[in-house]
Amino acid sequence: MKYSAPRGAKDILPHESALWQSLDEKFRKIFTLFNYKEIRTPIFEMTELFSRSIGESTDIVKKEMYTFLDRKGRSLTLRPEGTAPVVRACLENNLIAPDQITKLYYFGPMFRYERPQAGRQRQFHQAGAEVFGSSDPLLDVEMIILNLQLFNAIGLKNIEVDINSVGDQKCQPNYRAAIQRYFAEVIGQMCEDCQERYRLNPLRILDCKEEKCQPFIEKAPASVETLCDECARHFEKVIEYLKLRNINFRINNRLVRGLDYYTKTTFEIVSSLLGAQKAVSGGGRYDDLVEEFGGNSTPAVGFAIGIERVIEILKTHNPQPTTQSGLLLFIATIGEEAKRIGFDLVMKARENGIAAEMDYLGKSLKAQMKLADKTLAKYVYIIGEDELNKGAGILKHMGSSEQKEVKFTELFNNLTP
Ligand code: HAM
Repeated sequence: MKYSAPRGAKDILPHESALWQSLDEKFRKIFTLFNYKEIRTPIFEMTELFSRSIGESTDIVKKEMYTFLDRKGRSLTLRPEGTAPVVRACLENNLIAPDQITKLYYFGPMFRYERPQAGRQRQFHQAGAEVFGSSDPLLDVEMIILNLQLFNAIGLKNIEVDINSVGDQKCQPNYRAAIQRYFAEVIGQMCEDCQERYRLNPLRILDCKEEKCQPFIEKAPASVETLCDECARHFEKVIEYLKLRNINFRINNRLVRGLDYYTKTTFEIVSSLLGAQKAVSGGGRYDDLVEEFGGNSTPAVGFAIGIERVIEILKTHNPQPTTQSGLLLFIATIGEEAKRIGFDLVMKARENGIAAEMDYLGKSLKAQMKLADKTLAKYVYIIGEDELNKGAGILKHMGSSEQKEVKFTELFNNLTP
């Protein structure tokens, strides 16, 4: 029986993990610069957490969740996104308080049962940030700048910022009504999914990817046309501050995003270097979600980056020099007694912070030297029968091929990283 990874899930192999690690490291630095602290939430949550926040009529909840019953019959779901779990964790652990800003970031796998294609997987990874406690449009702008700075840190170019405003509780009903009026005329010519969306939540029609629906969607009214005064002012401020920081952006009237919790600003960063799935990140404001989860009314804004999409661009368009970190020391031995001493030295080396390795396959000295080469070891220390008697081994510098006799007890003092 041969096993393969489940459809839509991928291994991150040893030759790829250096890139993942470097991205992780660079992202953490930037998050820290902006004063965000890491939060790690479980991979699964109660199903209702997602269905209520993301929205019953969204594609994610209707078609894409990995939902299962546990042994006590509770419905659990592998998290399709990170925002709802972060809000849940904040409320459960009192991380949000009045008159206080809470800034959090996260990394981790997310799960959506989508049709796998380039840039779209069933298990994928996000790096995200959420900030709670202020409705200041400056924070919407901070989010976009933080997102751009993360991309800048890893050398991601050819990206564009799309923004929109979807309004709030006051004006969203007007937009919904405008959309309903508009689609009433044409819904009969649209796909079956859209007809169902029309009945459940007409706004979701704008998410449709069906080609035959696009001409109708393109002509649909824009949400910015129905904004209330407060939302319009908020959007103007966001635009003003973005301009002030010289951020290039595009107003994209179709950007309603595939999750129901957004209010006011929504944004996406897209890359022209990707195919159909070109959003490298997406986010926006969600001022009602904390209250919907039973907390005090707390404005919030956040975003999440799709790591696989970013890695794909870096791999194909911006290959990074892979700095292979080799070992400092390889210990080659001949005979049982030498092997025992070698093992002791390898362990001591590691205890002292020296990356070291030896052979465990009983290879010949020649084969051990080859292995040392392969591991990019800077030094090889050879212990044979003669050396055993002297309490010393031969230390060879692999770069210069220079070698000298060095006592076991002196070995670590003779290594320069
Ligand atoms: P989202 O737009 O659903 O937003 O996902 C964010 C990003 O995750 C996307 O732009 C994309 O790069 C990546 N992504 C999504 N689905 C897949 C997939 N199947 N395969 C590969 N990559 C994927 C959210 O998840 C929100 N929670 C973002 C947010 C945070 N809004 C406010 N705070």
